[in-house]
Amino acid sequence: MIEFRNEPFTDFSKEENRLAFEAALNKVKSELGKEYDLIIGGERIKTGNKVKSINPSNVDEVIGIISEADEKLAEKAMQTAVETFATWKKTDPAARARVLFKAAAILRRRKHEFSAWMVHEAGKSWPEADADTAEAIDFMEFYGREMIRLSERQPLTRIPGEDNNLTYIPLGVGVVIPPWNFPLAIMVGMTTAALVSGNTVVLKPATPTNVIAAKFMEILQDAGLPDGVVNYVPGPGSVVGEYLVKHPMTRFIAFTGSREVGLRINEQAAKTAPGQKWIKRVVAEMGGKDSIVVDEDADLDLAAEAIVKSAFGFSGQKCSACSRAIIHQNVYDEVLNKVVEKTNELKVGEAKTLGIDMGPVIDDKAYNKILEYIEIGKKEGRLMTGGGKAEGNGYFIQPTVFADVDPKARIAQEEIFGPVLAFIKAKDFDHALEIANNTEFGLTGSVICRDRLKLEKARDEFFVGNLYFNRKCTGALVGVHPFGGFNMSGTDSKAGGRDYLLLFTQAKLVSEQL
Ligand code: NAD
Ligand code: ALA
Repeated sequence: MIEFRNEPFTDFSKEENRLAFEAALNKVKSELGKEYDLIIGGERIKTGNKVKSINPSNVDEVIGIISEADEKLAEKAMQTAVETFATWKKTDPAARARVLFKAAAILRRRKHEFSAWMVHEAGKSWPEADADTAEAIDFMEFYGREMIRLSERQPLTRIPGEDNNLTYIPLGVGVVIPPWNFPLAIMVGMTTAALVSGNTVVLKPATPTNVIAAKFMEILQDAGLPDGVVNYVPGPGSVVGEYLVKHPMTRFIAFTGSREVGLRINEQAAKTAPGQKWIKRVVAEMGGKDSIVVDEDADLDLAAEAIVKSAFGFSGQKCSACSRAIIHQNVYDEVLNKVVEKTNELKVGEAKTLGIDMGPVIDDKAYNKILEYIEIGKKEGRLMTGGGKAEGNGYFIQPTVFADVDPKARIAQEEIFGPVLAFIKAKDFDHALEIANNTEFGLTGSVICRDRLKLEKARDEFFVGNLYFNRKCTGALVGVHPFGGFNMSGTDSKAGGRDYLLLFTQAKLVSEQL
């Protein structure tokens, strides 16, 4: 088997790539406004509850109209997944992996089209959408290989007179609940990890990006995945998601989303429903309040570049986004000035326009919440740039920088999930690390520094799941930077790493006396 390699990103400086992407945008535009049904056991089901998905760059543009499930249909999906598990769990792991390789090949062929859906439905810029699609391809290529590795004979200590075998068997029905911010990559990652491990899935997509998930269902079908292995059940998280989480036949929940919802799911899953025979497993990856620490001897241009990219990429709507810049007092003013200067150069606009740096935020709820935080920031810090709405017929917000923020201030502690950055002054490097560790989260962080001893100290003491040195704190690559966070950032599942599929399997030891 060819070794895993990451899918390359598209070089949009090449005309042929730009033209291909424009063609994909036009294709998607011609398909806007269609209806999408539930898919349960391969059957497409229309319901009376319809929800519209709209373009956050242009709120008058309808991306699709989606039938939503209720509890009765969620039950039907669960029963279908239970029935299908009986056969799917017996499918050869290599055959399950081949479904992922085939799906990855189809997605690679339709790469720009899927990215174009994300430009329209999630407001991703071309490069952000392209990276999301590449990550989805990577997850499938990686987890397919991982399943093959796990199905090989596992190394055990040998003793005379016995044959011992350890195998990784599936768990059962998994409920997959993804977020909208990596609407393809994270949804594909959790769903395909579950199915390649031999489980069946009830997928409840994130409402703002229901259409992207529906388009992925087409790929699974084309790749030959048997009906009923993945069941597509859109609907409100608080109704459909919650019903599925509480269901006695749910064996595990793979969730990525906010701290609040993750904790609720964890709590609900911990209660044993009548008839339930197992402890439900919860894989929950949640929010972040991520910091970049800059030391006094650092390359300050590199620092400013890393901060601006990490803070404002996809309008700060990444769990990994930098929302706190913690700067040594001796270089604080210089870094602040450089960051403000770079931030002022950012172009905000419709996601479909090549060359914009920031598109819109996802919806009116996010828009209002972020604007409220900006008002809080005006009381908690010194507004350096931005500070409100940006122009356009969508949810556009100016990239905003606040200086002199107290490390305990709300904008320094709470996840805003938008383009808002707080600058915090540190007395020295140790103080900077202390501030970096003072939130309840622990997802990503960066240290920009030239001093080897200080980097080693950060390696030990900066308490995050993904720590980066002298680079941005976003953009983890599958296989390269297994991803997951500490504390309230989640269960540190390390998506895209060798430990991930273990969360979707249980190990069985068979010992035979010879
Ligand atoms: P969210 O928590 O609002 O929603 C996530 C999913 O949960 C959605 O599908 C939603 O419908 C569902 N849901 C809502 N209430 C539910 C309930 N009571 N029971 C079951 N399901 C329910 O998060 P979001 O707004 O979609 O995504 C943004 C959040 O995700 C941010 O906090 C971000 O940091 C986090 N995130 C984390 C990671 C990570 O790897 N740690 C990656 C991406 C996003
Ligand atoms: N995995 C994504 C990143 O690293 C969230 O930015």
